[in-house]
Amino acid sequence: MEIVVKSLTELDKVAENIAEKLQGGEVLALTGTLGAGKTTFSKALLKALGVKDEVTSPTFVLMIPYEIPKKNLTLYHIDLYRIAGYKEVEALGIPDLWNKKDSIFVIEWADKIKRQLPKNTTYIHFEIENEHRRVTITK
Ligand SMILES: Nc1ncnc2c1ncn2[C@@H]1O[C@H](COP(=O)(O)OP(=O)(O)O)[C@@H](O)[C@H]1O
Ligand SMILES: [Mg+2]
Repeated sequence: MEIVVKSLTELDKVAENIAEKLQGGEVLALTGTLGAGKTTFSKALLKALGVKDEVTSPTFVLMIPYEIPKKNLTLYHIDLYRIAGYKEVEALGIPDLWNKKDSIFVIEWADKIKRQLPKNTTYIHFEIENEHRRVTITK
């Protein structure tokens, strides 16, 4: 599914639609170049899920967990920008948690570990096009 996003308000709508469907056990793989909108989408998703804490980019800390009380879930926001490959992800214990019914993963630069991502991964690709952004969702 391809969506043309013309503003941050429209991005919030996309995030709200995705947030509504999340039940736990999902892995959302965010791809696209630097500045394409992966962190902005992650923030919009957390806002849609009712997280009021300040959401920062996990570029330096690799992973930030957020409690989602209204769904009784933990969302793990991950940024693999500084990571070389799957070994480092494994060392963090991340794959032990995915597919768990009470966790959701939102992974920026997920294409770095594409081969090791679970089968049920939803890919969300971000592109900048002239005056707007394009978001492509593939399951
Ligand atoms: N849908 C959008 N519409 C307008 N600006 C956007 C949109 N998505 C992201 N941006 C802007 O683009 C910049 C980079 O976005 P960011 O989410 O940090 O990219 P990434 O995490 O992919 O590197 C930010 O200043 C952000 O406000
Ligand atoms: Mg980012």
